[in-house]
Amino acid sequence: MSTTTTSASSAAVVKILDLEAARAVLAKVNQEHLLKYASELTPTQRAELLSQIASIDWATIPALVQQYVLSKEAGAAGGSIEPVKHYPADATSSAGRGPWDRTFYKQKGIELIRAGKVAAFTVAGGQGSRLGFEGPKGCYPAGSVTRKPLFACLAEWIIAAQRAWCAPGKTIPWYIMTSPLNHEATVSFFKKHGYFGLNERDVMFFRQGVMPSFDMATGKVLLNQKHEIAVNPDGHGGSIKALAVSGALADMKRRGIEQLSYTQIDNPLVKVIDPVFVGLHAFAPDSSGQMSSKMVAKASAGEKVGVLCVVNGKTGVVEYSDMPKALTEATNADGSLKFNAGSIAVHVISVKFLEQLTGGGGFSMPFHRAEKKVAYVDESTGQRVEPVKNNAVKLEAFVFDALAMCEKSIVLETIRRDEFAPIKNASAPGASDTPETCSQIQTERALAWLAQAWGVGGSGGYAGAGQDCVLELPPTSAMEPEDLRIKNIRPVIARGAKLVL
Ligand code: UD1
Repeated sequence: MSTTTTSASSAAVVKILDLEAARAVLAKVNQEHLLKYASELTPTQRAELLSQIASIDWATIPALVQQYVLSKEAGAAGGSIEPVKHYPADATSSAGRGPWDRTFYKQKGIELIRAGKVAAFTVAGGQGSRLGFEGPKGCYPAGSVTRKPLFACLAEWIIAAQRAWCAPGKTIPWYIMTSPLNHEATVSFFKKHGYFGLNERDVMFFRQGVMPSFDMATGKVLLNQKHEIAVNPDGHGGSIKALAVSGALADMKRRGIEQLSYTQIDNPLVKVIDPVFVGLHAFAPDSSGQMSSKMVAKASAGEKVGVLCVVNGKTGVVEYSDMPKALTEATNADGSLKFNAGSIAVHVISVKFLEQLTGGGGFSMPFHRAEKKVAYVDESTGQRVEPVKNNAVKLEAFVFDALAMCEKSIVLETIRRDEFAPIKNASAPGASDTPETCSQIQTERALAWLAQAWGVGGSGGYAGAGQDCVLELPPTSAMEPEDLRIKNIRPVIARGAKLVL
């Protein structure tokens, strides 16, 4: 297995063969304007436009325009929202669901990994526009000292996990979702870097689908150029359909994969596969083993993370922008946040659940609307316009909406400093989730783990060394503090040191 070029949307729709057929389909859904310039196009351009038209499921468009473009969707905030119970990071704590046996579940998770039943899955189809980085976000330099790219950080976790836990002959396959906008660049980056030490046969790329972008006022689909419809990736929620359509799910079945560890591309500290989480998801009595989630305690009420809650009786995520302000700010009697379960967008999802969802055909996820600036061809002048304010609605599906489709679902708390340092925003004074904050957390984590492994905390030891050093601790050296002790990694850290452990 290596690369596939299947697109999630193209395989799922009817082929429109000629201009007249295309016109008939578009006329039915009031989008005929997309062919306004067809007679001016070269044969190649016309063919491109017709093939793009063929890749869109037009029958669904009028209802989407009504629901999400012309009226504003109520969002998840419409129903009842309660705090969710979780397995606390400190397994001995009586908070959340109370004390639990971490060692037992870790062992159960390792057994699944050892038998080759767990794969990694990373969504990397986003456009990374907030970071202002041209190109796939996974290519962004993230190692605090080495500046190695995000893709390499995740690959190293997989290499370390394979070495530590897989039985001989077993591996951890890695499925990576790209979008049509960054697929080629992503695949060439992996080739150029020798798959970051992984076996090419164990890395599979597939493209997510796209959705057309709509004019905010009229609901008409925009033309990006006279021969090209303006489209955007259909959100990480598109991954569920894309896994099935691309053949990735079938590949998992062939390999005997039972569980998928889902992560985003933006977090170099993510535990790409965490045996504790896998074990808890698969074996905890209150888990259906379908889809589970990880949380961190929110840094502040205003932190821009989704919140794990119980929505209309089911575990779910309410995105920060959909959460009513009163709930975001609500506190318990001791002053702590009532809705404190920040989603780090890490899930374990079973292959069986994905098959159940996509198996019968007609599967769809709800969409979320986002108002954006999208360049378009102005029909009155035929000129391309770069708008200065939001003119368009993009529709995206969110993977966490599949939580509502589970029978029951568990939440595991984790320590922010140990596994959550996303790079989302460009550097700016006081900004959060930037390359700088990520690098700082990498150093803090390395110092904390050294102190934990060697018991030399306090101002004279590792805990006090941090002010002006920069440390990077790759997973191949340590996936948890104990590994530092086992491998006897005990560096002397001089002031101002820049060190890879
Ligand atoms: C996301 C979550 C938020 C969570 C936070 C944790 C959403 C809507 N929100 O926020 O609840 O607390 O992460 O860091 O996801 N992607 C695709 N295809 C797409 C769109 C996105 O693959 O069409 C991928 C991106 O490459 C990235 C991930 O999804 O890996 C997150 O996307 P982004 O839209 O940046 O989400 P955040 O706002 O960071």
